[in-house]
Amino acid sequence: MKNSFNDNLLNFDREHIWHPYASMKDPLPVFPVVSAQGVKIRLADGRELIDGMSSWWAAIHGYNVPELNRAAGEQLKAMSHVMFGGLTHKPAIELAQALISMTPEPLTKIFFCDSGSVAVEVAIKMSIQYWASLGCDDKQKLLTVRSGYHGDTLGAMSVCDPVAGMHSIFKNILVKHHFAEMPMCGYHDEWDETHIKNLKEILQMNHESIAAVIIEPIVQGAGGMRFYSPSYLIRLKELCDEFNILLILDEIATGFGRTGTMFACEKAGIAPDIMCIGKALTGGYMSLAATLTTDRVSDVISSGGAGAFMHGPTFMANPLACSIALASIRLLISSPWKERVSGIESQLKDELSPCAGLSGVKDVRVLGAIGVVELNQPVDMKVIQERFVGKGIWLRPFGRLVYTMPPYIIEEGDLSRITGAIFEVVSEWRHA
Ligand SMILES: Cc1ncc(COP(=O)(O)O)c(C=O)c1O
Repeated sequence: MKNSFNDNLLNFDREHIWHPYASMKDPLPVFPVVSAQGVKIRLADGRELIDGMSSWWAAIHGYNVPELNRAAGEQLKAMSHVMFGGLTHKPAIELAQALISMTPEPLTKIFFCDSGSVAVEVAIKMSIQYWASLGCDDKQKLLTVRSGYHGDTLGAMSVCDPVAGMHSIFKNILVKHHFAEMPMCGYHDEWDETHIKNLKEILQMNHESIAAVIIEPIVQGAGGMRFYSPSYLIRLKELCDEFNILLILDEIATGFGRTGTMFACEKAGIAPDIMCIGKALTGGYMSLAATLTTDRVSDVISSGGAGAFMHGPTFMANPLACSIALASIRLLISSPWKERVSGIESQLKDELSPCAGLSGVKDVRVLGAIGVVELNQPVDMKVIQERFVGKGIWLRPFGRLVYTMPPYIIEEGDLSRITGAIFEVVSEWRHA
């Protein structure tokens, strides 16, 4: 294929366009992409990479999916967007029906927004407005755990891990919330009450000023790719009930089957008061997210002084995104996703476990369609990225983590190429 990217384009990109977490002065190289199909990303120079990232948890069905393309085309013929203030439409209503029926039962009200970070902002505001509507203006703090990640906007950052979330840079504007120790019980560990002792003490001392606990259920993603025990969530829910505090679950990364259940909280059999979803909601086609809550929370907010929930983004419930999301959910539900995810899980366990014997490797862990090789030392992202691309694999290691969460449709042979490349790159890495 003719290389449609010339140096001018790449130079312009380098000089003018910010990439995620990048320097404009000395940016890491970027690889120009011209198309993506199934689990393959095609670079401008003709190379094809097997995608091990699902574009950051989102592209669960792979790329260029006929059902999603069709939904987009049909919706475009009707309308791409109309404002949601004073208007409504079938894509939003049908998507809301689907989401309410597939999420835990008490969640009956939904707020659509544009990105995961905004869904978290909305959740935080809901929890604070809930207490304000009950006349409890003192309940304005959040409680969360270390090693969490909830997004990059200011409210979301304020509940991210203080170090990884760079609280020191923004210390004068970030609200200071409460941080408990991260959950220390591994996914399969036996429950011991000491695992939640620190969080419980913070609740005991500060519950009168805490509106909600916010946490990523079972998997702490960008904060360290850590998996923790469902028992922790069960106890957390009990403590929230005991101290009369709302529970916000951030299912933005874990939602839509990634851990083997449709939502990670199902592993603990608990339901939150507020839940955030995003990422895989549109199968990775467009940015769309949502915050769901209960009748109780929405009734209190709606009967409070303001009489309304105080948020309303321009692209709220964008019809194009809602139509694609609905098609993505239908496709997911009608596919053997559970078998696929558990097949990926077994294969990742078999094929990544030899990495545990390599020097420089601290831990290897797998849950659902997520495989993690944690190293003792941070990787050089530029070098390691190039090595994976050289082997025809798209992964994006960060810090001490080399990890994969492939599209659910990946076939055994392609997944073996990813795990094989991880083994080779990690074993060569100690000689780097
Ligand atoms: C658990 C979690 N919450 C929130 C976010 C933020 O989502 P977005 O990047 O769409 O703003 C992310 C993104 O990685 C996430 O993993």
